[in-house]
This record gives sequence, C-alpha cells and structure tokens, in this order.
Amino acid sequence: EKGGWSSFMAKEISEEPEAVAKTLLGRVADGSVHLSELDSIGDDALRSIDRIVIVGAGTANFTGMQAKYAIEKWTRVPVEVELSHEFRYRDPILTPNTLVVSTSQSGETMDTLMAVKYARENGARTLSICNTQGATIPRESDAVVYTHAGPEVAVASTKAFVAQVIALYLFGLHLAVVRGTLSKDEVAEIVTELNALPDKMATVLEQHDSIKQLAGWMADTRSVLFLGRHAGYPVALEGALKLKEIAYIHAEGFAAGELKHGPIALIEPGIPVFVVVPSPRDPNSLHKKVVSNIQEIRARGARILAIAEQGDAAVLPYADVVIPIPLASTLIEPLLAVIPLQIFALELASAKGLDVDQPRNLAKSVTVE
Ligand code: F6R
Repeated sequence: EKGGWSSFMAKEISEEPEAVAKTLLGRVADGSVHLSELDSIGDDALRSIDRIVIVGAGTANFTGMQAKYAIEKWTRVPVEVELSHEFRYRDPILTPNTLVVSTSQSGETMDTLMAVKYARENGARTLSICNTQGATIPRESDAVVYTHAGPEVAVASTKAFVAQVIALYLFGLHLAVVRGTLSKDEVAEIVTELNALPDKMATVLEQHDSIKQLAGWMADTRSVLFLGRHAGYPVALEGALKLKEIAYIHAEGFAAGELKHGPIALIEPGIPVFVVVPSPRDPNSLHKKVVSNIQEIRARGARILAIAEQGDAAVLPYADVVIPIPLASTLIEPLLAVIPLQIFALELASAKGLDVDQPRNLAKSVTVE
C-alpha cells in the first residue's frame, strides 16, 4: 500500500501535487470559481455574512491562519481564526451573519465537532472543510466543501494541509465572486496560479534527497526554530509542529517580527533556524525585513536554513543552506514552502530510527475532548 515508499508519510507528501489538483478539479473553470456545495447556503446569505470564524485544531488550525490572509484580502470580510477547543468556552459572539468554517481532515475531531454544534445551536451558519466523505462534522454543518487529498494514513498531516488551504482559498474566491470584491481578471489570475501549483510542487519534491542529507546531519539536534512572516508565519508553525510530533524534538515557530520582542534570547551558537523567506517581489516588501532578521540571528551564531525563492541573491551571503522554491505570489508561496519542512521532519525522525507513521502518544483522529 505504501507503493514503494518507506512510510505512508513519505508517500503522502509525494501525493501533494495530486491532492491540490484533485481539490481544484471541477471547481475552477474558464478562469472563475464556483463551489456548487455552497448553494445550500445561498448567495443572499453569503452576501449578508459580516464575519467569518475559522475553527480547527493542530495542523487544521494553521490552515485557517493561512487562509485568513487570502480571504480577508479577497473578500474584505473580517476573519478570525480560533482553536476549536477554545472557541466554545468563551461565550463567542455569534449571529446569523456569522459564518463558522471548520477545518478537519478526519471530520471526527471531537473538539472541532463540539465547536460546530455550538455554533449552530447559537445561530451561526456553518461550513465544513473536510477530507473524509460522510464524516460527522460535515453532517452537522450547513454545507461542506470536501478536500480531495485521498485517505491520509500517517498520523502527521501533510497532503491534507495543502488540500485544506486550497479548499479555503476556493471558498474565499467563491465569496469574492458572489460579493463582487474581485474583478473577473483578478479571479482569473489567481485561478491560473492555482492551476500551476501542482507542477511547482513537483519541482520542490525533487529536492527530497538533499533535504534528507540535511536531516541526517542534524539527528542530534535538540531544538529547532522556525521563522516566517505574513503568509509564511503559519507555515513556520506547521514546520515546528511536524518536528515535535514525529521527531520528538523541541521546536517553535515564530513570526519573524516577534524575534526582538523575546525569542531572540533563545539564539545560541549552532542552533538551527529555518526561515521562510518572502519573495523579493513581495508587494509588502517584507523580504528586506526578514533578511535583516536573518542577519541578526546569524550574527549570534544561528545556523540558517532559508527557504527562499529561486534566484533570491540577497539571502545567499547569510544562509548556511538555501532550499529554493519556484516563483509564486505571496499567498501561494507558503504551499510550496511547507513541503521542505514536512520532508525535513520526516527524514529527521527516520534518521533517529522512529516510526514516522505512528508517533508515540498520538492518534490519527482525536475523538475525545
Ligand atoms: C498534525 C496532526 C493534528 C491534526 C489535528 C486535527 O499533523 O495530525 O494536529 O491536524 O488533530 O485533526 P483533524 O484535521 O482530523 O480534525
């Protein structure tokens, strides 16, 4: 079943281009986006939504964080992202114009299910983004957009992450079309980029062996940090979670701008720091700021592993290792940058002789609160 791969996780990472392509299939046509699944909510209701709350846990919380950048930009509807297990215990403000979007690979996570039920009972509309047909969470929701990543067997989520971000992006585009917040041309341009993503992902996957070598050198590492900024920030958190989960290594993800507010004190000679570098073409010009963060921590002895756009010459002098990713716009780039981090966690755990598919203390689907 592993089809020649050493683990399900390795196989599932290799399936990411397909997971994206299948999640896009039939939903983007002629440069536009339509999710017929949202018909059960209806365009009038979609136009009256004044707030979106995305709830999930673990990796499925980071996809919400990722999508917030896109959905707010495209629709101008405020988006909050909240851990599902925190959400219902704080008396959240819900109205019929609140759309609660849940993200769950399994569709059975009890924390997320209870958040969805709470949202419904308190008058909000609910949309489920789920990878498992007929699971409980979609059945409890007003509408469901399935990701088509295929079954995910390894406990650590990989292909479901990218498929979930794509489904949330499609939802954002659908909403933008209905609400008229993006022009036809703008939608078409984003659709073109989404369609080009699977091939770009395949070129990142070609670097598996070189990332494996990197992991081999680091088998004795005790702590790894991950930095990202803007859309690269959730990816930094995801990279850290993967490493904790399957390699049992202390790892933390930070927003790069937060460094000087505390975490820079953790930097000591030799500590590996992965940095998700924004594109030098980023319209927010965050690239320069992240490069200067790299300089600051390098001066304190950190070993820099930069995930940067191909041909980004500015990072070269300061990085110990550069993992190049193809050119992509700010909102698409994280879907490429996450792959090397997943491969790194997989290979570091393998180098330590661990069972990557069945990490200790964890279950694939957490059906208790
Ligand atoms: C991370 C991981 C967990 C799950 C979380 C939510 O690799 O596997 O953090 O993402 O338990 O699970 P689902 O998506 O099934 O609700």
